[in-house]
Amino acid sequence: MPVRAWFPTHIYCEPLQKSGLARLNADLAEECRRLRDFDAAGRRWSAKNYPGGYTSYASMNELHRFSSTFAALEQKLLRHARSYAAALELDLRGRTVRLTDCWVNIMPPTAAHSLHLHPLSFISGTYYVATPAGCPGLKFEDPRLSRFMAAPPRLPGAKPAHRAHVTYPAKAGNVLLFESWLRHEVPANRVDAERISISFNFNWA
Ligand code: NI
Repeated sequence: MPVRAWFPTHIYCEPLQKSGLARLNADLAEECRRLRDFDAAGRRWSAKNYPGGYTSYASMNELHRFSSTFAALEQKLLRHARSYAAALELDLRGRTVRLTDCWVNIMPPTAAHSLHLHPLSFISGTYYVATPAGCPGLKFEDPRLSRFMAAPPRLPGAKPAHRAHVTYPAKAGNVLLFESWLRHEVPANRVDAERISISFNFNWA
C-alpha cells in the first residue's frame, strides 16, 4: 500500500490490578458516597453544573492528599500512567510525573457529562468503580473532526480507527488513560443505578 498512517491518537485501557478488584471497588464506592454526603459545596456546584449527578471536581479535587484509600489508588494509577507515557515515547527521563487532580463522579439515571477536555495536564483518565449493566461508556472524538468540513462521510463499514468517534465501555476495575487534549463525553445514564468513576489528571515537571 502506498498509503501509511501517521500521527496516531493513543488510548490506554487496562485493569487497575490483577486481583482484589471487587473488594477495592466496594470500599471505593462506599467512600465516594460518603464524600457526596459530606461535600455540601460539591453538591451545590453539581446542582448547577452537573445536572442530576454529583462530582467533587470543583470542591474536593485533590482526594489523594486527604484519603489513604485515594493515596493508595494514586500509586497504582501512576504506574499505569508511566506505562502509557512509555508507549507514547514521551521523554520523561529525569522528570517527575505527578497526579495533580483526582475527583469523584457519581452519575444516577439521566446524568450526562457533555464534551470536554482536561486543561493544565498531559495525561488524564478515569478509573471505574461501579458500572451497572448498560451504563454509558466514555465516548472520544477524533481530534481532527473540525478539519473534515468538506470530507464525505465514511463508509458504514469503515474500520473503527477511521471513524469519527470511539466509545470505550465503562467496566469496573478498568483504568482508561488518554492525552488530556482529547475531547470526550459520557452520554446520559439510562439505567436505574448509579455509575461511579474517579477521574484524574497528571502533569510533569
Ligand atoms: Ni473528562
